[in-house]
Amino acid sequence: MAIGGLPYPVTLADDAAAAIGSAFSGAGGSAFVICDKRVRARATAIRRAIESAGVRVLGVMSLEAGEKAKRPATVERIYESLLDLGADRTCTMVAIGGGTLTDVAGFAAATYLRGIAWVAVPTTILAMADAAIGGKTGIDHPRGKNLIGAFWQPRAVVADLASLGTLPLPEWATGLAEAIKCAVIGDPPLLDAIERLPQRPDIGSWRSVIAGAAQVKANIVARDPKDAGERAALNLGHTVGHALEHARRYRVPHGHAVAVGLRAAGLISRRLGLWPPADHARMLEAIARANLPTFAARVSAGAIMDGLRHDKKRLDGKLRFVLPVRIGEVRAGIEVDRPIVRQHGVNQRPEPCEGLVVDMCDRIIGKVAAAHHERPVHLGHEKVVERRVRQHQP
Ligand SMILES: NC(=O)c1ccc[n+]([C@@H]2O[C@H](COP(=O)([O-])OP(=O)(O)OC[C@H]3O[C@@H](n4cnc5c(N)ncnc54)[C@H](O)[C@@H]3O)[C@@H](O)[C@H]2O)c1
Ligand SMILES: [Zn+2]
Repeated sequence: MAIGGLPYPVTLADDAAAAIGSAFSGAGGSAFVICDKRVRARATAIRRAIESAGVRVLGVMSLEAGEKAKRPATVERIYESLLDLGADRTCTMVAIGGGTLTDVAGFAAATYLRGIAWVAVPTTILAMADAAIGGKTGIDHPRGKNLIGAFWQPRAVVADLASLGTLPLPEWATGLAEAIKCAVIGDPPLLDAIERLPQRPDIGSWRSVIAGAAQVKANIVARDPKDAGERAALNLGHTVGHALEHARRYRVPHGHAVAVGLRAAGLISRRLGLWPPADHARMLEAIARANLPTFAARVSAGAIMDGLRHDKKRLDGKLRFVLPVRIGEVRAGIEVDRPIVRQHGVNQRPEPCEGLVVDMCDRIIGKVAAAHHERPVHLGHEKVVERRVRQHQP
């Protein structure tokens, strides 16, 4: 399945080994394969396919991936391997793994010998739907996420659906956070498709969700490859999300942080009167159905506010947000005062009424919200919410 719109091919391949050859047609030179060690078997198959396409593979390097791998030491190790193998400018790096692997390997490709070609082979839902597309590469800095990086477009993206066979169940949900984000940014029917996904993952139904999210991302990146304007929309949920990751020292999965950040953006937008309650409820329901969190109980509001100081989208010390205005439309660059961010964005336990029956709740919200403020409620449990609302109806 092809995702269109970008100047390089983006393919969702059932088996990347069968599809990777086309990324090398006429390329010549050599290749260097770098993979997440959890997908080493897939990397072996892909390496053989590259060799069958007549390209010499200098070596295969496997790494323990994950957020902690997005640091200078990993980039150094990649440089060392490339130098040891004598990789020159004709070498193409093939990066096989999730978003952390493609981010760090892509950054090494962007900077080794002032830039060598690379091919991204994403192996997680999140990387297929989002991270591997668009040429943003980079690593984290102790002061903030993705602070060091480069725009470096891959020669091709070949998502390997076959690798999803080993992806742990929670990682499927993690990837949905970015897909929900993409739906809220620009594709309402995608949200329907996400809500209809079977609980037990199967590639058949997930393929179209991955493709839908990837297409939203590709369309935006095609119009704004260097993040000069419209691409900022993709930051929906990431302002508070990145601050949360920073506050938790990157020990929270990126998709979880994005889910919490999506809700925070929704709450701020509600406070500013920009986002209808029904749309907020619908977004929360999608997050809850995906088994993603909406609230970070073990992190203080102060720690998240502190993390916001290093947000890349900050200008003149002011916090700027991408806020949803309806499912399928967001507004970027909205300046929000810190007290509003603190009160509505980062310090809000889920309200029992916040989920499904918000319109009804809005009329009685004073009493109900006060009564249940401290009680955590699993959002999306319609029956619980409805029962509580009924109990409190005048
Ligand atoms: N560059 C961008 O535009 C962009 C966009 C969105 C997110 N990101 C980045 O992506 C990263 C998150 O990506 P992620 O969620 O893919 O994380 P990840 O790379 O850490 O992968 C998640 C986990 O799954 C494992 N894994 C990967 N593929 C597997 C497979 N097929 N089978 C079994 N295990 C597998 C990994 O080892 C890891 O433990 C974050 O660092 C985020 O900042 C980048
Ligand atoms: Zn993200």
